[in-house]
Amino acid sequence: MNTPTVLVTGATGTVGAALVPALRARGVDVRAMTRGRAVPGAANVVADLRDPESVAEALEGVDAAFLNSPSAEDAAALQIRFADLARDAGVGRLVVLSQYAARADSPVRFLRWHAEVEAHVGGLGLDHTVLRPNLYMQGLLAFAPAIAQGRFAAPIGEAAVSLVDTRDIADAAAAVLTGAGHAGRTYTLTGPRAVTHGQIAQALTAATGRDIAFHEATPERFAASLAGMLPPWQLEGLVEDYAHYARGEAAEVHTSVADLTGRPARDIADFARDHTAAFAAADGHAS
Ligand SMILES: NC(=O)c1ccc[n+]([C@@H]2O[C@H](COP(=O)([O-])OP(=O)(O)OC[C@H]3O[C@@H](n4cnc5c(N)ncnc54)[C@H](OP(=O)(O)O)[C@@H]3O)[C@@H](O)[C@H]2O)c1
Repeated sequence: MNTPTVLVTGATGTVGAALVPALRARGVDVRAMTRGRAVPGAANVVADLRDPESVAEALEGVDAAFLNSPSAEDAAALQIRFADLARDAGVGRLVVLSQYAARADSPVRFLRWHAEVEAHVGGLGLDHTVLRPNLYMQGLLAFAPAIAQGRFAAPIGEAAVSLVDTRDIADAAAAVLTGAGHAGRTYTLTGPRAVTHGQIAQALTAATGRDIAFHEATPERFAASLAGMLPPWQLEGLVEDYAHYARGEAAEVHTSVADLTGRPARDIADFARDHTAAFAAADGHAS
């Protein structure tokens, strides 16, 4: 039997970069779809979700595909077109990266567009699986400069979130892309417990040996601190995301990571320990 080929979109991204080696470890041929940045350990194919011809070429001869793209105003349309092209190319299995609590009537725009993609893919008659990860632990790396100064802030109050390590999302995706029995399933991917941002600060403090405090920010201050770093549409979506977290709507703990990978999901303490260098003080004080 030929070795199966798995196409990974977003292969330079947070989940994709970890998925490539996870798939290689499972013995499949990996085709990394990128817009030009090279991905080591895989065959590289250059394609852009906005260029359907390039996507159709990237999908030729692929057995399974992992669909992931960043949030954008037209992300749903781009992902839906990719799914249609995957069906047309005869791809045997499509695994879609969605988001925890995706729902067509959600007040959170990201959750609405993910739900639209899920519904479309569900109607294609294709072997497909949906992964719905909660907030990424790796998102804290975006706050690393502030954390290195001993504080970080977000509009979330005392609400707990069962945030998940992207390495676990990648391992779960690799299991679904290469294993049997996942067709038509939706897996919600979370960490092993729900934690408040105060508890995240404690985990970072314990890992780095330095005092790191969490401070509540108003949505307005939070948005102002990120203005210029994100386009307005994405910034507004992020504020909606945090309002959803602050309402306590993202605190359920699911066992899917352990069920799919055969080992426990990483805890925030594990994440903090593995990333102490990223949170080292700006003055060079190593952890
Ligand atoms: N962040 C979270 O906490 C979280 C939680 C749950 C779900 N999610 C979902 O995760 C997804 C990914 O979000 P992310 O921000 O972490 O992004 P990401 O996966 O780190 O990065 C986006 C990837 O998409 C690629 N890409 C960008 N534009 C593209 C295009 N036009 N055509 C082809 N590839 C393109 C980028 O490649 P190059 O730039 O190298 O070309 C990069 O590899 C989103 O759907 C989001 O809703 C995120």
